[in-house]
Amino acid sequence: MVDLAEQVIREKGLRRVSVECGDATSLLPITRGRPVAGIFSGFGLQQITRPAQALRDWAGVLAPGGALVVAYWPHIVEERGPWRCLTDLTVGSENWQGGIPDVALAALPGLELVSDTEPAFEMVWPGAAEFFEIMSTAGPWRSRRIHYGDAHMEEVCEKFMASCPDVDARPLRHRPKARQIVLRMRDPAQHAAKL
Ligand SMILES: C[S@@+](CC[C@H](N)C(=O)[O-])C[C@H]1O[C@@H](n2cnc3c(N)ncnc32)[C@H](O)[C@@H]1O
Repeated sequence: MVDLAEQVIREKGLRRVSVECGDATSLLPITRGRPVAGIFSGFGLQQITRPAQALRDWAGVLAPGGALVVAYWPHIVEERGPWRCLTDLTVGSENWQGGIPDVALAALPGLELVSDTEPAFEMVWPGAAEFFEIMSTAGPWRSRRIHYGDAHMEEVCEKFMASCPDVDARPLRHRPKARQIVLRMRDPAQHAAKL
C-alpha cells in the first residue's frame, strides 16, 4: 500500500504529498500537532479497537473546513449471503458500532455530519470454500484463526458450508453494503461570511 502510494505520488508529481506509516489510533506522531485538511480511511475502522473513539480522535485533528471520509465494513453487511452467514456463526459477535459517529459529534462542537450512506459492492468469489479460505486467512476472520487456531476454524468451516446460502454456486456472488461517513469541521470564518 505504501509502495503504491509512493508510486502514485511519483507518477503524478505531487510534490506537497508524502507517505508516512503509523498507528491510526494515535495520529499525533504523524500530524505533530498540525491541523489536517482531509482524512480518508478505507476499510480500516472495523479493525480498530474502540472505533467510535478513533473516529472522534481523527475528527479532532481536522482544520476548520477540513473533511473526514471513512468507509468501513459494518457489523452486518448483508441480509443474506456468505458474509452474513459467517457473522452469524461467530461466537461473541456483537454490534461494535455503537457511538459511530455520535461520540465524535458530541465531543467536537464544530463537527457536522455531511452524509452517512451504505454503498454496496458486488463481490465475486470462485465458490463458498474459497470465500471461507480467503476470509479466514487474509481477511477479517484471520484474527480468529490466529486466536482460536486451525482446528477451531475447520469446525467453523464445516458449519459455514452447511449453512451458507448458494453454497454450490460457482462463482459465488454477493453484494455486501459498506458504511461511509463524511464529517466536516465547520469553518467559523466561512460561516460568518454567509450570515
Ligand atoms: C481491510 S484492510 C484495508 C486496506 C486498504 N485501506 C484498502 O482499502 O485496501 C485494513 C488495513 O488496516 C490496517 N490496520 C489495522 N489496524 C491499524 C492501525 N491501528 N493503524 C494502522 N493500520 C491499521 C491493517 O493492517 C490492514 O492493512
